Amino acid sequence: MCGIVGYTGNRQVTEVLLQGIRRLEYRGYDSAGIALLEDGNFRVIKSVGKVAGLVEKVGQNGHGSPGIKTGIAHTRWATHGAPTEANAHPHLDSQNNFAVVHNGIIENYSVLRDRLIKKGHKFLSETDSEVIPHLIQEFYQNDFASAVIQALQQIEGTYGIVVSSKNHPGQLIAARKGSPIVIGVGENEMIVASDIMAIVSYTAKVIYLNDGDVALINPNNVEIRNIHNVPVSRGTSTIDWDIRLVEKGGFEHFMLKEIHEQPESITNAVRGRLDHANGTAILSGLNMQPQDLVAIDRIIIAACGTSLHAGMIGKYYFEELAGILTEVEQAAEFRYRNPIVGVNTLALAISQSGETADTLAAIKEAKMKGAQVAAICNVVGSTIARETERGVYIHAGPEISVASTKAFTSQVAVLLMMALKLARSRRFTQQEGIILSNEIEMIPELIQKVIDRSKEIEKIAKKWSGAKDFFFIGRGYLYPAALEGALKLKEISYIHAEGYHAAELKHGPIALLDPSVPVVALANDVLGKDKTISNIQECKARKSPVIVTATEGDEGMKQLTDDVLWIPRTSKYLAPLPTVVALQLLAYYIAKERGCPIDHPRNLAKSVTVE
Ligand code: AGP
Repeated sequence: MCGIVGYTGNRQVTEVLLQGIRRLEYRGYDSAGIALLEDGNFRVIKSVGKVAGLVEKVGQNGHGSPGIKTGIAHTRWATHGAPTEANAHPHLDSQNNFAVVHNGIIENYSVLRDRLIKKGHKFLSETDSEVIPHLIQEFYQNDFASAVIQALQQIEGTYGIVVSSKNHPGQLIAARKGSPIVIGVGENEMIVASDIMAIVSYTAKVIYLNDGDVALINPNNVEIRNIHNVPVSRGTSTIDWDIRLVEKGGFEHFMLKEIHEQPESITNAVRGRLDHANGTAILSGLNMQPQDLVAIDRIIIAACGTSLHAGMIGKYYFEELAGILTEVEQAAEFRYRNPIVGVNTLALAISQSGETADTLAAIKEAKMKGAQVAAICNVVGSTIARETERGVYIHAGPEISVASTKAFTSQVAVLLMMALKLARSRRFTQQEGIILSNEIEMIPELIQKVIDRSKEIEKIAKKWSGAKDFFFIGRGYLYPAALEGALKLKEISYIHAEGYHAAELKHGPIALLDPSVPVVALANDVLGKDKTISNIQECKARKSPVIVTATEGDEGMKQLTDDVLWIPRTSKYLAPLPTVVALQLLAYYIAKERGCPIDHPRNLAKSVTVE
């Protein structure tokens, strides 16, 4: 949950590092720091708050001499120790020989710290990370890589680190265990970071480290060993993300940009994956032959947050279309409840970042119990993607805003294609498959129609932006959509919002309804609409305002409710997709009206890599 960057080469190091952590700020932004190796010594500058504060401070101190060739930088999301300058990274040993930036959690840090203090080491912070440079100093006998490896062998927990040493100018060492590290390979320059967002401006050629890898990085070569100091080889990959996608592209917030990108991101998710002639999907990443598909007798979906809501829709797809018993589990719950899985169970992780600790642990638990595992991820080469070795990338491009939007709709589209493929390996006919595959092609157009109504939605949002509580209710495929709408609103506007099954309202929550509590009812013209209309009437009887999502042309809804979010006509399978986009826009414009920091909501980070 922190952003780390290291650079060695001939560019203006300070600029590369500061630009890099600015690109990674969505991973954490409560403090930041930089360490430059200048004339044989470290110059360290730190600041509390966002990267902009550090940039200003570095500017006041001068950008450093052109002779600087190596440096590291960090933007933090605090796990141990409050966001203070002392706790900001980089951290150094007592003799200032080594500077380290770290992403992860060292579970045995207090034992290590006590042991090091007894040996005379002086600690300046409350962080777990600070034990790393002191351990390296402890093991250093003129061999940089060996000292780092010995230090890492002492650590229990997770780390993604970059280390610089004043005795080895021009060199960096990077290592990972449970937190991502990627190396950008340039011409006589290397940039190493938590993810490719910091790298795309400089090179498209990257090396993803695996857990246990330790990389010795020079400007013109990378040597990788494992944690036992044995050389290993890692291939290079090519990033296909366009740098323009990383910038805001003229939108006020990344969230709005990413909402508007959804017709394109869905197109990318579906591209080349529908076989209309045979009415099926082509998902080569699953590496499953027809007999493997037929053998699956149960699916368990493990995910968190928005990805969990996508999984809930996936359950309906897999059961209704493919006839496969499917459970959806909050990942942390799954991993600790000693789940029952079998060799014909498919454990499916859904994760935009591919780094969510609970989801990763759930998949490892399922794998250990003999289940087949697969993942639906966005970030290529992410830890969960590589833990499962099979799966489907959603190709949504970088999702910068903490609130997940385009990843959700692409996850749902991929789940629908997976269900189609599994269904066609069972009783689903070619004709039924052709109809559904043609429907899937329509998703971008359906979403665009909702985006085209943004002005209407903004007007409704402004009208209700002063509410302190909201309910979101839905049935069937629209029930997870209601949960997702509530999550979007609460996480960016800080309004208390609860998603509920429409039928559940009268079993308690209806006691909370009064004229100050608006209810967003998802009453598109699909299965369950009439029952939801009854629930709307129950809400109106308690004088709660009702905002409804309704199918275009269903004019009766205007008389029944206070405001209508119009959704294009769809089948029940596709209904959640344009509907959630309307709820994303509703949440966005309410948060904007309330002046909230939409892309960086308080207390949140984009990737939750701790339990
Ligand atoms: C989504 O808006 C939230 N920011 C959060 O719930 C997120 O979906 C969750 O942390 C899971 O992240 P992942 O998809 O990267 O695993």
